[in-house]
Amino acid sequence: MERDLEITLTVNGSEVTRRVAARVHLVDFLREELGLTGSHVGCEHGVCGACTVRVDGDIVRGCLMLAVQANGRKVETIEGLTDSRELAALQKAFYERNALQCGFCTPGMLMAAQDLVRKGGKASREEIRAHISGNYCRCTGYQAIVDAIEKVMNER
Ligand code: FES
Ligand code: FES
Repeated sequence: MERDLEITLTVNGSEVTRRVAARVHLVDFLREELGLTGSHVGCEHGVCGACTVRVDGDIVRGCLMLAVQANGRKVETIEGLTDSRELAALQKAFYERNALQCGFCTPGMLMAAQDLVRKGGKASREEIRAHISGNYCRCTGYQAIVDAIEKVMNER
């Protein structure tokens, strides 16, 4: 019989403690236990990037990490980075460039894009494409997404 384990982690600046089954993935924990449904679940095997969240400062696939592996760690989601306005410039650029259509990929795409933006410096379109190559978008053809990220990176 599977046993629940108690975990304590910081999510978007708040400490949370919950009992979770060992098999529960981090993205499912965030969505179903904490109601943070901005992180999406697409492929569930590490390919599409829809579930991208930040753990201790690095972006990870929320569908490849178990919630119990986040014990004692600092997790940030699209909701947290939106509330802190860390994503404000990218969100504005995505809106202005029509860099989203259905929006399913957008939270993960923004998390990945911000990971590049926060490194500082400028980036070529090729470098931007390489950085978001693990985030699939079925709608936009990527051109507008690269436009938006390029605008933020190269106009600062
Ligand atoms: S749902 Fe995690 S990479 Fe696709
Ligand atoms: S906007 Fe629809 S998948 Fe990217």
